[in-house]
Amino acid sequence: MTKLEIHNPFNAPVYHEETVTSTMDVSRELAASGEPHGTVIAADFQEKGRGRIRDRKWEMERGNLPFTILLHYPRIEEIPQALTLRAGLAAALAIEDFCPSLKNTVMIKWPNDLFIGSKKTAGILCEADGGNVHIGIGINFAQKLFPDHLREKATSIALAAGRDFSPCDRLRLLERVLVRLHAELETAGWRERLQQRLYKNGEQVVFVEGAAGSKNSITGCLAGIGEGGELLIVPDGEREERCFITGELL
Ligand code: BTN
Repeated sequence: MTKLEIHNPFNAPVYHEETVTSTMDVSRELAASGEPHGTVIAADFQEKGRGRIRDRKWEMERGNLPFTILLHYPRIEEIPQALTLRAGLAAALAIEDFCPSLKNTVMIKWPNDLFIGSKKTAGILCEADGGNVHIGIGINFAQKLFPDHLREKATSIALAAGRDFSPCDRLRLLERVLVRLHAELETAGWRERLQQRLYKNGEQVVFVEGAAGSKNSITGCLAGIGEGGELLIVPDGEREERCFITGELL
């Protein structure tokens, strides 16, 4: 594992490993060995990257940007509200800082995706264990060709911006994510900030409620984010909004 010389406003080390199982696993090891709040592990390649939905793999070619930020919150009440969404917001703003031609194009699809247009460009996975939260972020960065099953669903910064990037450019983006995340966690008013960037806010949506594989789908108007980060939808034929804490927007 090497230590990268990039700015981390959390004042903690940023490590890099070429190949890992998952940066989430390494982050747990770093926590166990006493690394401080804000420590980061980035990798070139993950052999067993994982997604938010159990059993869903997260596959990324080399040249992209998978990393995990370790945060210490000894008491559960200290964990910032809506942390996954706010990490997504920080990553969206960081992508736009890094690539100004994408300004105001990166949207947050509840609860953990970043979309440019109708395609996913990044995913967030937060895991908690004994006083730590591990914020895993996978950003499709330089990849220009996606396998058939992802071609219609995924994009990257390079594809969206219509340019090529070098591997070193990833570190500038990583630095921006850390700066934006640090600022996000220090600033009140996250709900308004999120709602301005919420994918399909005010639009008609189809939402599958509950765990993966659920057949309970709801159509209605997406009405924003609640005080705890829940998704608000006014179902068709109803007047009041309902809030949802698990499920997936189609
Ligand atoms: C999702 O969209 O379901 C979440 C994807 C999260 C992927 C990132 S890549 C870095 C970190 N390591 C992992 O194994 N997963 C997260």
